Amino acid sequence: MSSRKIGTRRKIVGGNWKMNTTIDGAVDLAQEVVRRLGNTRNVEVVLCPPFPNLEAVYRVIAGTGLQLGGQNLFWEDYGAYTGEVSAPMLTAAGCEWVIVGHSERRHIMGESNEMVNRKLHAALHHDLSVMLAIGETKEERHAGAMERVLRVQLEQSLERIDAGAMDRIVIAYEPVWAIGTGETATPAQAREAHAFVRTVLGELFGQEVAEATRIQYGGSVTAANAAELMGEPEIDGALVGGASLKPDDFAEIVRAAGGGRAILG
Ligand code: 13P
Repeated sequence: MSSRKIGTRRKIVGGNWKMNTTIDGAVDLAQEVVRRLGNTRNVEVVLCPPFPNLEAVYRVIAGTGLQLGGQNLFWEDYGAYTGEVSAPMLTAAGCEWVIVGHSERRHIMGESNEMVNRKLHAALHHDLSVMLAIGETKEERHAGAMERVLRVQLEQSLERIDAGAMDRIVIAYEPVWAIGTGETATPAQAREAHAFVRTVLGELFGQEVAEATRIQYGGSVTAANAAELMGEPEIDGALVGGASLKPDDFAEIVRAAGGGRAILG
């Protein structure tokens, strides 16, 4: 794998606000993020507020270079699916991105890889880019099953996806044991998992696509540990939960992803 190719993967940092903001708080938070990171050029930044906040946040970030993402979607476009939100609704609200397969959806809402795959196809069909989240539980890691779990999640979630679509998919490696726990993966653990993910992507889509695909790390990323994690050549950015609710910390993480600075344009 040549370092030149690694260098061409632009870092991407997502802020997954989860179910933590009502509309006023979301607008305030977006304004604070824009103040610190508006027009960041060297790192792609995607804010993912709860559905009812999307349009309001879009109005704050439109034209700043910051992008909007949904936290989930349903695979049908319209119809009698009470409580669900579709890809056309997300794009109409200003989204360019959507998170698919987050572990909280897999483990709390019972989403299977097959459901994740249907969501992925729906998102791509409507020109949404996807942060596809995968990751093993603590029990799986301790049982030596990490690679098997990641492989199955990748193979089944990416079924019938063309290699040509992989430039609109970012893999978010989020070990479940690291999410919201304060127990961050060490850079070595993340490096090892990312390298394995890239190997599987190579088997599925070929080496060139695997080397071009971005792999984010997520799980207790903070302003304090971001520089070390983002310094790993295999780590192409972060998907941030708790720290994305603190504008100073989130800006610090984006700066770390940019090699110590956020270049404003
Ligand atoms: P924390 O950063 O709060 O651990 O959450 C990570 C995450 O789930 C991002 O999607």
